[in-house]
Amino acid sequence: MKTNLIRKLAAGTLAMSMLAGCSQGTAGAESTAKEDSYTVGVAQLVDHTSLNTIRDAMFDEFEKLGYKDDENFTIDYQNAAGQISNLDTIMNGYASEGVDAIVAIATPTAQTAQNYSSDTPVIFSAVSDPVGAGLVETLEAPGGNITGTSDEVQVDQIADLIKEICPDAKTIGMLYNAGEANSVTNTTNFRKYAESLGYKVEEATGTDLTTLQQAADVLASKVDVMFSPNDNTVASGMTALAQIALDHKVPYFVGADSMVQDGGFATVGIDYEQLGRETAKMVVDVLNGKNAGEIPVKVFKDDLNVYVNEAALKQLGIELPAAVKDNDKLILVQEDAQDGDKAE
Ligand code: TRP
Repeated sequence: MKTNLIRKLAAGTLAMSMLAGCSQGTAGAESTAKEDSYTVGVAQLVDHTSLNTIRDAMFDEFEKLGYKDDENFTIDYQNAAGQISNLDTIMNGYASEGVDAIVAIATPTAQTAQNYSSDTPVIFSAVSDPVGAGLVETLEAPGGNITGTSDEVQVDQIADLIKEICPDAKTIGMLYNAGEANSVTNTTNFRKYAESLGYKVEEATGTDLTTLQQAADVLASKVDVMFSPNDNTVASGMTALAQIALDHKVPYFVGADSMVQDGGFATVGIDYEQLGRETAKMVVDVLNGKNAGEIPVKVFKDDLNVYVNEAALKQLGIELPAAVKDNDKLILVQEDAQDGDKAE
């Protein structure tokens, strides 16, 4: 994997004159001189709708803040295509390249980044449980050289929504990848709350799309509704998994708006674009000299919307109760034309 070693000696824009380190100009060595412009490594676990939204919003926000890629600032973007082993390679590359900061999108990315970097600040994006994942000491005071944004799933509100929309349901089946720390936290919390409401909670896990599909098929045949948190492995195969739930006539509640867009039935969740923009602002603060470990983690758990998939609603023959229909936070999601088994 080639990493981008180009560091621009940028013409001093206003933004850069604030950021510029002191030139030290050791002759001969290519990378001993402090650069006049920063390079940020942006690593993403996998392509799925939500992580792509976060990335795009973040890149857009960099520009808005005056950081233009390939002009006065370099983004070395790498995508691990869902392979944890690729994350190791990517982080190794950033380490030898000597990037000024690492932006890590999703939990496994952040965990790998932290292992590789003690000197380089890490700003994570959309980590559901930064404490549980072992990334920070506390949300208020992360410690070390790391901070970022968090998207803890509001499982109680989702379970309440299940109760409102499916009042006769008795069993809920959770589907997730137990290898994702974020999903372990969210499903543990979901189970606790759902059981307190009197539900019987079952679970099935898988580590890739094939095993998740098998698990989903078995699970869907024995529960009244299904739930997946914002699990990256599930989200990557959402279209296929949602179809399995639909085939069994099971409403499939999920942990992110993007998963409703990709065929899931409903969720209560945050605006990930805003989260991406906020991550970019934190990166800029760190480049400007703030100590990452002293910046509180920004948790997104307010301003939630209720997302319901209109097509799934029809296919399941469900009528939304007035309390949901009249909720001014309700967004009826029309799926992009991606029904059936089209991959993209
Ligand atoms: N919160 C996930 C994590 O901690 C990442 C994520 C963000 C995500 N948005 C999502 C996962 C939507 C699935 C669906 O790794």
